[in-house]
Amino acid sequence: RMYRRQMMCRRDIDDFNVPFLAIYGSLIPPEEEKLKQKQLVAILEKLVSKEWPTSNLYLYGSCANSFGVSKSDIDVCLAIEEADMEKSKIIMKLADILQSDNLQNVQALTRARVPIVKLMDPVTGISCDICINNLLAVVNTKLLRDYAHIDPRLRQLAFIIKHWAKSRRVNETYHGTLSSYAYVLMCIHFLQMRRPAILPCLQEMETTYSVTVDDVHCAYFDQVEKLCDFGRHNKESIAQLVRGFFHYWAYCHDYANTVISVRTGSIISKREKDWTRRIGNDRHLICIEDPFEISHDLGRVVDKHSIKVLREEFERAAEVMQNDPNPCIKLFEPY
Ligand code: CTP
Ligand code: MG
Repeated sequence: RMYRRQMMCRRDIDDFNVPFLAIYGSLIPPEEEKLKQKQLVAILEKLVSKEWPTSNLYLYGSCANSFGVSKSDIDVCLAIEEADMEKSKIIMKLADILQSDNLQNVQALTRARVPIVKLMDPVTGISCDICINNLLAVVNTKLLRDYAHIDPRLRQLAFIIKHWAKSRRVNETYHGTLSSYAYVLMCIHFLQMRRPAILPCLQEMETTYSVTVDDVHCAYFDQVEKLCDFGRHNKESIAQLVRGFFHYWAYCHDYANTVISVRTGSIISKREKDWTRRIGNDRHLICIEDPFEISHDLGRVVDKHSIKVLREEFERAAEVMQNDPNPCIKLFEPY
């Protein structure tokens, strides 16, 4: 009879905070891993500055935005002023330079949408992608990292959502599902929209940081240490937020008419962005505005088939969070 009771009345949602936080804890990269990443970057810096003394190397993506789980690859951007040299030429040259040192599997991918050099460091086992002059990615990496410093629940939520997305195979842009970057923006936006809000909208506040890259003006309030108690009036727990996130994307989001926008901290209409119909390959079936390149819809990779897959996964996750006796296991069951 005990067993039946357990099956029938599920525990309180807050009973799942401890197991969710344990999953979060197990995903955080250990200090020594961070150290190894730094060592590899130092090696790369040395090699690159021999050839291009005025160049800079920047980390971006999950190794620098604080949303990286253990054992992630690192993303590096080489900032270089070679106006007269084609990107693919720079990539070839870079691969050449790195090849000669004892790095492994140095590959120049010159025809990719974003041309990169891929390599693996045999000493640390870390893989790394290097792109050229993608400074907007460096700036949006800083924005994500700054948001993470405001309330610890963002990093917890984003780790859990990314872990879910990887487990359920809906984090594969080449198969029409969403990038990690898109999922983190969805988490930021979700926390901006809670009432009381857990995150502010940094781009609507006083400008303390501003740069212009590739003609895009990027400006926001970056003194986030002043905002560390911003979310104190909202007491929602991580389990409640995970449930709320999936509930929103399963049952509440208006896919037909709206766009989520971290830039404004609000929901805006597709009509206002002219994202109401398919243009070229952009179908706008789920719309996530890039905070700086505001003509970019991060949902543009999603097609007729994958939108169905994605929404079914949101519904499955919402259902698991609502009713399953063991959501911390069921949510991440491999697809
Ligand atoms: N990026 C971007 N525009 C996109 C996709 C990515 O500007 N449409 C940039 C962002 O700066 C992002 C970085 O590329 O942080 C890496 O993207 P992605 O691989 O999606 O995210 P990671 O945070 O590196 O996630 P993962 O842990 O899965 O590697
Ligand atoms: Mg990455």
